[in-house]
This record gives sequence, structure tokens and C-alpha cells, in this order.
Amino acid sequence: MASTRFLCLFSARTALARAGYSRVCSRRSVCSSPSRLQSCMSAWVIDQYGTNGLLRHTEEITIPTISSASEVMIQVHAASLNPLDISMRGGYGATVLKLRRDPLSVMNTDSEFPLILGRDVSGVVVDCGAEVTHFAPGDEVWAAVPPWKQGSLAEFVTLTEYEVSHKPKLLSHTEAASIPYVANTALSALVNAAGLCRDSSSNKRILITGGSGGVGTFSIQLLKAWGAHVTVTCSQNAEGLVRGLGADEVVDYTAVNVADQLEIMEKFDVIIDCVGGDTELWAMGLLKPWAGAKYVTLVTPLLHNTDSMGLLDGTFNAVCNLQSKAIQNIISNGVFYRWGFYTPDGPALDEVSRLVDAGKILPVVEAQFPFAHVPQAFQKLEEGHARGKTVVRVADEDDRQAEEMVQHGHTETAESEQKVQETVKQN
Ligand SMILES: NC(=O)c1ccc[n+]([C@@H]2O[C@H](COP(=O)([O-])OP(=O)(O)OC[C@H]3O[C@@H](n4cnc5c(N)ncnc54)[C@H](OP(=O)(O)O)[C@@H]3O)[C@@H](O)[C@H]2O)c1
Repeated sequence: MASTRFLCLFSARTALARAGYSRVCSRRSVCSSPSRLQSCMSAWVIDQYGTNGLLRHTEEITIPTISSASEVMIQVHAASLNPLDISMRGGYGATVLKLRRDPLSVMNTDSEFPLILGRDVSGVVVDCGAEVTHFAPGDEVWAAVPPWKQGSLAEFVTLTEYEVSHKPKLLSHTEAASIPYVANTALSALVNAAGLCRDSSSNKRILITGGSGGVGTFSIQLLKAWGAHVTVTCSQNAEGLVRGLGADEVVDYTAVNVADQLEIMEKFDVIIDCVGGDTELWAMGLLKPWAGAKYVTLVTPLLHNTDSMGLLDGTFNAVCNLQSKAIQNIISNGVFYRWGFYTPDGPALDEVSRLVDAGKILPVVEAQFPFAHVPQAFQKLEEGHARGKTVVRVADEDDRQAEEMVQHGHTETAESEQKVQETVKQN
């Protein structure tokens, strides 16, 4: 046991030193418990599922060193939050994610706690496994951390090479951290589920419901870069933002009957539903019938079902639900009904990185918080009405800046929003 701990300390420090991270090494905290030989990092964790009050800052999480030849260890500079973090904090998806983390967990009582949330990372590579070919220590990278892995609200995160991508050169870490998870989700929904791609989207009519949030603000820009015609539903006070990002038509769902308003428009080739609920009841009829049109919802009952009914019953119920809707819609209108899911995909982020550096996709950072204020960042997200993304600055140098920003409170958030609007206008 002692030798394992020593190896952990040795490999973490060697990796960091190799990458020229003596500054980082010097501020590694060393656990004062009996396991003091382990090198530890700072992280926000939960020890049980529940509310924001359960988020706990600790300096005693073991650094996630490289454990397989294809892994890349990243020093986190910035992370961002997604609605999934709020849900996972409350236990959403626990059944499936626990099994995905450890397929033998059904046989034992090993706990997933302490659990680190945070799905986006922008940072710097500090160590690579022997088979990693695309990355080297010192590379600036970004990635979306799969929900079954320890998250990015920590000083270090370790991912497989396939999940990681070189960060766009034009973006700061704070800006870059706002993109990977929504980008991987949007690309999976648009490409895998809706069958769109750069060369097949020109002049296609796409409707995005909930266009003012993280997935929506990214999807608008990607689709416009691909030449599509984009219609968006959002609140009235988000209209300037989504139009600035390129939306061709905007329907304020708070002012009018959104279904009636969309009904009088030309029908759509694809609907990406970021709202869920009863949207599909009125939105299916907005698609072009018998023309290969597709409805893709990101709000699916799969994990809710497995949480409430158990793995087998929940999955069976969800699959039956999906199949019956898919069959019903194809028979009655000739439209495809599909579910969209986040999929880890570093090469897809490479493509996004090129679009960002070409000025075709802008980060939409609504609010940013220092690492010390992670619970406040969760609270902001939980209040809803997102206009883009909420980012957490994790690394020291970024943290000090963000601490000052939080002292300015809402002023900073308002300025941040204004900056997005101005940047959007300039582009
Ligand atoms: N399946 C997956 O793998 C996956 C992956 C990522 C996200 N998701 C899900 O997809 C959804 C969107 O994600 P996100 O990150 O974009 O969320 P988000 O950042 O919280 O954005 C949601 C946006 O929708 C707006 N909105 C709320 N009700 C609306 C309505 N009835 N019509 C139009 N707009 C409405 C909100 O603003 P206002 O309330 O001010 O209008 C907000 O701007 C979430 O439910 C998320 O859990 C699923």
C-alpha cells in the first residue's frame, strides 16, 4: 500500500515537473492524514446527492494520474457548468453512470463519492500516456468530460486522448471552457441524429427551441456556418443575442402562442428541441411531411427512468417509449423522431476549434465565477434563464481576476452580457 502511494506521489510530481510545472508542484497540498504520501489536489466534491449546500471544497483529492497508455492529464484552467451538473448533484443518472464507471458496481457497494462535477475543461496538458500521439505536455487543450468520469471542478482531470482536442488559439481558457460540452452535444444531435453535416445543410430550414441557452447559442452559430436557415424560439429579452449570433427568425415564446406563430411559417427540415416537455406535441406538425424531416429532442426520459425504475425496467420502458413514438411519427407523417445525446468526441472539437479560429463561432459567456465561488455558480445556473454559459475559473491566475469580478457582482455579469452582444455585433 505504501509503495502504491509513493508511486502516485512520484508519478504526479514527475509528470508536473516534466511539463515545467514547478510552480504548480510547489502549491500541491499534501494530505496531513495517514496517507500523507499521496499528492493531492483541490476540488469541489459532493459526498451524497442533494442540494447546493452539499458542495464541499477539499484539498484532499488524489491527483488523477495517468493510468492507461491512451490517457492525457490536464491542468484545469477553466471549467463550465451545464444543466447536467445541477441534475447530477441531485442524483440524476446515478444508476447508469455508476454502472458505466464501474461495471462491477452491481456486485459491490463501492461508492461513487466523493464525486467531482463539471463537464467542460480548458487547460494545459501536463502528462501523456505512452501511446498518446496527438498531444504533448504544455499543449493547450479543451474537452468535454464524460459524466461517468471525475469532472473538471478540480485542479486536474485525466481523459483519454480521443476525448481531448487542441483549444482554439483565439480564445482564453475562460472563453474556451464555455464550448466543449454543448458543442459535442449539438454535433451529436445535428450530425448523428439529424443527419446534417457541413455540406448538406445549405438552405435547410432548422428550428431550435430554447435557442438562448448553452446548446442553442452554439447550435445557431454552427448551423449558420454550415449555411442553414435558422429559426429560434426564446424569450423576448434574448432576441438580440440570438439574432446577433445569426438566427434568421425569432419567435418569442412568452409573448405569443409559439405553435400558432411557427405554424404560419414554411415547414422545417429539422427541429432540435432544447426545451422538452410538451414541445413535441405541437412541434411534430411543423416538419415537412414525407421529406426525410427529423425531430431530435435533447430532453429524454432515459436516465429519469433508470433512476426511478432500475436499470433494466427503466431502459426497457425508455426504449419502448422511443420506438412507439418513432413508429407513430414515421407512419402518420413520414417524419423521424429521435433522441439526441452528448457524445465525447475530440476530433469533432478539432473541427469546432477551426471554426472558432476562423471567427465563425463565438463563445457566449454569460457569467464567470472564481473557483472559490463554485456554489454561487451552481446557484446562478439553477435559477435558469441562461443566456449562454456560466464559467468557473480554476487556475490561480484566472482565479484572482474572477474573485475581483465577483466582488463587482451583477455589474460584471451585465458587462459580460454586454460584451457578448458587442462581440456578436462586430462579427
Ligand atoms: N441529452 C443530452 O445528452 C443533453 C446534453 C446537453 C443538454 N441537454 C438538455 O438540453 C436542454 C438544453 O440544454 P442547455 O445547456 O442549452 O440549457 P440552458 O443553457 O439551461 O438553456 C435553456 C434555455 O432555454 C430557454 N427556455 C426555457 N423555456 C423555454 C421555452 N419554453 N421555449 C424557449 N426557450 C425556453 C431558457 O431561457 P428562458 O427561461 O429565459 O426563456 C434558456 O435560455 C436541457 O434540458 C439539458 O438538460 C441534454
